[in-house]
Amino acid sequence: MEYITLNNGLKMPIVGTGTNTYGKENNEYNAALTKEIPELLSALELGYRSIDAAIMYRNEELVGRVLAESTVPREELFITTKIPAHEEYISSKEATRAAIDNSLKNFQTDYFDLLLIHFPIEDNVQLKNTWEVFEEYYEAGKLKAIGVSNFEKDHLEELKEFAKVKPAVNQIQINLKETNKNLLAVLKEEGITPVAWGPMKAEPHQKEILDEIGESYKKSGAQVLLKYHIQRGVIVIPKSHNRENQASNLDLFDFELSAEEMNRIENL
Ligand SMILES: NC(=O)c1ccc[n+]([C@@H]2O[C@H](COP(=O)([O-])OP(=O)(O)OC[C@H]3O[C@@H](n4cnc5c(N)ncnc54)[C@H](OP(=O)(O)O)[C@@H]3O)[C@@H](O)[C@H]2O)c1
Repeated sequence: MEYITLNNGLKMPIVGTGTNTYGKENNEYNAALTKEIPELLSALELGYRSIDAAIMYRNEELVGRVLAESTVPREELFITTKIPAHEEYISSKEATRAAIDNSLKNFQTDYFDLLLIHFPIEDNVQLKNTWEVFEEYYEAGKLKAIGVSNFEKDHLEELKEFAKVKPAVNQIQINLKETNKNLLAVLKEEGITPVAWGPMKAEPHQKEILDEIGESYKKSGAQVLLKYHIQRGVIVIPKSHNRENQASNLDLFDFELSAEEMNRIENL
């Protein structure tokens, strides 16, 4: 595994696993919850240590139980979860504190490695209150890093007006369909690490070229795409329900794309 050092010195694994459809019937986002998550167990077995969760996924308690019951010590895990930008969680500081406390309980832990605001909070007072609670828990050591998700440049600027702690990451969609190039440049300038959700998305004609690039390395197009992201300093959290794909998404550290290949993918 390789790591990226966030702007507060915390090291985050450059590859993690998403969980948004884990523990759900037919692996469907909106479906009823099941009782087990074999995919999470196989991810842990294969060596995944960074787990991307969220209250909105409704499966925190299940994901938390699987992690707590696993043989992997807590200190080896990097657990991220997210507070929804919904009234129930952000209407007051008490509501946000209660949400964080409940998530900690779900994961049977006394700290998160990273907590994010899942979507921009449009009301500035609510944004300020929410961030101040994040800072309070950060100062208390219950959050090792704090950040945001799906924030555009304007949202980051609003946060900057009052934030004492700068967001460590912005988790945004980054793939070959949605490159988010301008926002990536802003994040670089601000020292905020990008985390890519939906990193695997690509059009069929793009996949053909990725496969072609992978041939000389004996890697799949999917591996080439993930490697492209991480060589640009983007953390990835691909999600798979398939053990072979999970293994392949971790097998990225024995080849390097050339500058020419990086440009070719960039131009896709
Ligand atoms: N912050 C946000 O607003 C937000 C939004 C969306 C997602 N997320 C997070 O980001 C995570 C990842 O995003 P995502 O789940 O939307 O998309 P993704 O990881 O880009 O794609 C998942 C799809 O790619 C397939 N796949 C994975 N590895 C593959 C491989 N090696 N070869 C071929 N196909 C492969 C999976 O199918 P198989 O199961 O068949 O392998 C699955 O259908 C989520 O789980 C969630 O934790 C965050």
